[in-house]
Amino acid sequence: MLEAWKEIIAARRQYDCWDLSQPLDKSVVEEIIEEMNTQCAKKQNKPHIALKILDWSDPKLRGAIYDYTRNAESDDRTRENFIAINPQMLAHYLIVFVNVKEHTRLGFLGNISTGLHANYITHSAAARGLQTGFCQCSDRDLCTDEQYEYMLDRLGIENFDQVYLMMGLGHGLKENSMINPATGETVECWSRIGKGEQEDNPLPAVSDYVEFL
Ligand SMILES: Cc1cc2nc3c(=O)[nH]c(=O)nc-3n(C[C@H](O)[C@H](O)[C@H](O)COP(=O)(O)O)c2cc1C
Repeated sequence: MLEAWKEIIAARRQYDCWDLSQPLDKSVVEEIIEEMNTQCAKKQNKPHIALKILDWSDPKLRGAIYDYTRNAESDDRTRENFIAINPQMLAHYLIVFVNVKEHTRLGFLGNISTGLHANYITHSAAARGLQTGFCQCSDRDLCTDEQYEYMLDRLGIENFDQVYLMMGLGHGLKENSMINPATGETVECWSRIGKGEQEDNPLPAVSDYVEFL
C-alpha cells in the first residue's frame, strides 16, 4: 500500500500546459469529485465552499479567466508589461473554489476546506494518470471590465475576491507552451515540470517550519 502511495505522490506535480488533443471524459471528473465528496475530511461533514467546474463549452469564460490570471513582468504595470504565465487555467477542466461565507472565523473554514479538497483532487487525479495545476495569481487590470463582469455573472459571484483558488485538471503536457483555445495564440509557462519549484523558490528544510515539542 505504501508503494502505491509513493507512486501517486511521485506522479502528482504542478502542470501548466495541457494536451487538449487527448480527450478527458466528464465521467472521470465526476468520479474524482464524487470521491472527494465522500472521502475528503470536512468539518461537521459540511463543505464550507462551493466548487464551479468549467469545461471548454464557454471559451469566452475560459479566455477571460486566463487573461485575469496573467502576471506582471515588472513593476511597470502597463498592459504591455504583462506576461502570460498561468496556462494552468487552460486545462481540460478548471475547478474554481468559491467562498460561501463571510471572512469571519467561519469564513476561515472555507480556506481550510479549499486546501483540503484541492489537495484531495490532485492526488485523486494523479492516481488516474491526470495532472493538476494550481493558480492563485490574478490581476484585475489584465482583463477588461466586460470580461470581469462576464466572469462574475457566469460564476455567480459578486467579487472575484470570493474565489479562493483555481485549479486546472487534465492531461498534462510536458512542454512549456501550448495554444490558448480561446484566442488561438501560443502561450508560455514556466519550465518546471517534474522539477518541483523554481530555483528562486527552493523547498524549505523541515527544520525551517516544523518543531517537535
Ligand atoms: C495554493 C497554491 C497556489 C498556487 N498558485 C500558483 C500560481 O498562481 N501560479 C503558478 O504558476 N503556480 C502556482 N502554484 C504552484 C506552486 O507555486 C509551485 O510551483 C508548485 O506547487 C511546485 O511544484 P509541485 O507542486 O510540482 O511540487 C500554486 C500552488 C499552490 C499549492
